[in-house]
Amino acid sequence: MNRDASIPAQSWATDEVEARVNALLGEMTLDEKIAFVTGGLNWNYAFYARPLERLGIPALQMADGPAGVRVNRGDVHEGKATALPAPIALAATWDPELAWEYGTVIGAEARATDHNVSLGPAVDIARVPLGGRTFESYGEDPRLAAAIGVAFVRAVQAQGVQACAKHFAINNQEDHRTSIDAVIDERTMRELYLPPFEALIREGDVASMMGSFNRINGTFACENPTLLTDILRGAFGFRGWVMSDYGANHSTAPAINAGLDQEQPAEGHWGGQLWHGVQNGEVAETTLDESVRRILRPLIGLGQLESPASLGEFPEDEHHLIAQRIAEASMVLLRNDGILPLSGVRRVALIGTDVDTAGAKGGGSSLVRATREISPLEGLTRAFGDGVEIGLAFGAEPVTPGVLLPGPPTVPEAFFSTPDGKRGLVSEWWTSTDHSGEPLVSRVDGLIEHNLGAHNFPGFNAGSPRYEPLPGELNGQSSARWTGTLTVPVTGTYLFTVTALGRFSFELGETVVASSDTTSMRNSTTAEVDASRSTLAVIDGADATELEAHERAGVQPYNWGGDGGGSAAMYDVSIVLVAGRPYRVRLEYAADDPSQGFLLGARIRLGWMPPAGVVSPDIIAAAELAAASDVAIVVVRTYEAESDDRPSMLLPSGQDALVRAVLAANPRTVVVLMTGAPVDMTDWGAEPAALVQAWFPGQAQGDALARVLTGSVEPGGRLPLTLPRDLSQTPGATVAQYPGVDGKAHYSEGVFVGYRAVRSDGAQPAFPFGHGLAYTSFAYEELVVEAGTREAIATLSVTVRNVGPRAGSEVVQVYVGELPVDVPTPERQLAAFRKLHLEPGATARVTLEIPARAVSYFDVATHDWVIADGIVDVLIGASSQDIRLTSSIPVGASRSVEEWVPDSAAGWEESDPTVVGAMP
Ligand code: BGC
Repeated sequence: MNRDASIPAQSWATDEVEARVNALLGEMTLDEKIAFVTGGLNWNYAFYARPLERLGIPALQMADGPAGVRVNRGDVHEGKATALPAPIALAATWDPELAWEYGTVIGAEARATDHNVSLGPAVDIARVPLGGRTFESYGEDPRLAAAIGVAFVRAVQAQGVQACAKHFAINNQEDHRTSIDAVIDERTMRELYLPPFEALIREGDVASMMGSFNRINGTFACENPTLLTDILRGAFGFRGWVMSDYGANHSTAPAINAGLDQEQPAEGHWGGQLWHGVQNGEVAETTLDESVRRILRPLIGLGQLESPASLGEFPEDEHHLIAQRIAEASMVLLRNDGILPLSGVRRVALIGTDVDTAGAKGGGSSLVRATREISPLEGLTRAFGDGVEIGLAFGAEPVTPGVLLPGPPTVPEAFFSTPDGKRGLVSEWWTSTDHSGEPLVSRVDGLIEHNLGAHNFPGFNAGSPRYEPLPGELNGQSSARWTGTLTVPVTGTYLFTVTALGRFSFELGETVVASSDTTSMRNSTTAEVDASRSTLAVIDGADATELEAHERAGVQPYNWGGDGGGSAAMYDVSIVLVAGRPYRVRLEYAADDPSQGFLLGARIRLGWMPPAGVVSPDIIAAAELAAASDVAIVVVRTYEAESDDRPSMLLPSGQDALVRAVLAANPRTVVVLMTGAPVDMTDWGAEPAALVQAWFPGQAQGDALARVLTGSVEPGGRLPLTLPRDLSQTPGATVAQYPGVDGKAHYSEGVFVGYRAVRSDGAQPAFPFGHGLAYTSFAYEELVVEAGTREAIATLSVTVRNVGPRAGSEVVQVYVGELPVDVPTPERQLAAFRKLHLEPGATARVTLEIPARAVSYFDVATHDWVIADGIVDVLIGASSQDIRLTSSIPVGASRSVEEWVPDSAAGWEESDPTVVGAMP
């Protein structure tokens, strides 16, 4: 076979495989080919394509797999598999060897649970901190994402299972995910968003890809010839196949002609319509043949015909320990005044909504039913052993998908009581929309924060386990009523916000203080909250002059997969309440908007902004526990899931107030962030003694966290994304960029995303990309730079010495400075990295290569890469902001690398070895 030299070798695409592909294709009838490229919905699998038994072609049985195998079949391993730490945690290890182990677990378990395609990894770049799938990504840097992704894919496929890189492409937000148009220039696409996919093809041999939901420059991803044909097949030489995301295909001929190979999850526009397309000539049969070939190649090339997946056992204990090791290696120590590792403590306050479960995890299609779970409480109890007393307090409300609804903090349950004096409200739910008939649910439950529909599916809902989810029958249209009393501890003005999709009426005292107007509510799909619906209420004779009306404009709409149907509006009302007086509460709600149904159900939330001094009794109890302990550990979490972005960077469920109160009660407080994306920490009032970014650490989270905090192991992670102070430091700075206006998100920031946007003379982030402290410290010495080849333009050697008291690991990071080119380039770009483990006093000589790509830019005039011409700074250090040694290299077309004489040539300066090892 003649192969263009620029087409990368893909191990499963040999000449021998091609001959078998063509032989099989020759046997297939038109109907069989069409069935082969059209998904056959089968609830046992995430995606499925029917077998062709006549020709010995097995079904394509797919499971979601960025974070572990999502087993849909309840009869297989009870639907369980190893719940690994979130992909963002894997990226935080900066360790391709661990990515190999992670991929091996997934490949082996996918195979043993009867799957031959694993839907992962997700290598979309983390563009905005609110992105609902940031936790499923490998962060903000394409080189790091590529290195982790390549090792992951190779490992999955070494188990005889195809990997599927998703979501191709420019799929960086969930807000309006099924319709948003990413308006992006070619340079930004090629330099920032596409390189991980390119690397998975060139270096990872990836078998398949998934086309994303969104549009790119006006055309849906699944019918975008620029992406699917010109770039993917033309520029990147991909020889495998592309399936659509779930319902992301919108057409017949345009999609297959653009390069989509399989429609999933079922016949939408293909199947019979594709048959007609072939008959009427809109689709050439040779085009269909090419799609069949692309699917057959890895199926045959990876040996899946001879050795199909089948049910089997997998080593649960071994895999659990791998999950634990990866979690340990991913935890990033952001700050430490010396309190960690913990020692000599007798009384520990363990605080957080999910500390007695392994509840902190990402939701949506990457959620895995774990084989076992170790909670922080269990892990810390084991790690501390006898002699240390652990006190427990939840402090905050349970974190549920309801926190994805915008609005101020949830009204804490502790201020409510039922008519018979229990804490909470009487909460009743009906499947009817008018409260008629018997309620399906009647229980005492103080949480008015609900987001039913897909977010409430058992396999999607990653809410706090201590909050019992509402039954699935309520996922469609429904109605609800909450009754009881509210008693507040401070007299003053309270701003209540009801966030609702559907009708509601909120009574406090004997007054309806806020309600929706049915007509305007049904039309409520705009970004503006109608000011006329902002209410000023007087109840129980409070002095009207004390009341304030609150109006909000420009409130972001809130959508299920967007498209206008799912917007929930916020209604504000300010009310003066008197301390200690029990106010009757009655909130009636009907989830009866036409957009509401199976996927998009009840959306209702009651939040408030109380006057100063109102602190929930649960927070007071947590703070008292902290004050009476040697040390407090506060574990906080977010709710993150596909199909919605977070409404804000603040912690939900009262957790900011909780952290603030505990920090004030005991300065010896360690805050642990179990989040998959950056959070805003500006509201805490003080710095914790130590701050750990633990991500969603998977099923072994309790042991991993405990071993890191007590120092049995070190926190091995470094940030795979910048932690900005707030949205203004990100592409979320303007609504045109994110979430977009008129259906378009403008990527006008270009390549300046994350640390690439940080300028030394500009605003600094909370914590920079690459940052992470160790329990020891390292010195960098003896930098030598040598000329390399055309591909690897320079080789750097540096000695790293562990100058601290204990063994530890360091991630040596090499950045290049601004490039001498005609377009603006970032001050720093990651060029290479290596993770090392060193015993105390030990040294290692590390050699790293700078690839030509790292000193090139993508030229939109020639549609090709152009290498810089001139002197480029090289910076080596422990983070993008912690540079220890610098040098510079001459690069460029005009300089032949063979002629370079590194030690004497101008511009080849070797910096003085510097020792900057001390831990801040
Ligand atoms: C997600 C994909 C996933 C698919 C199948 C979609 O909603 O976007 O990532 O693979 O569902 O579960």
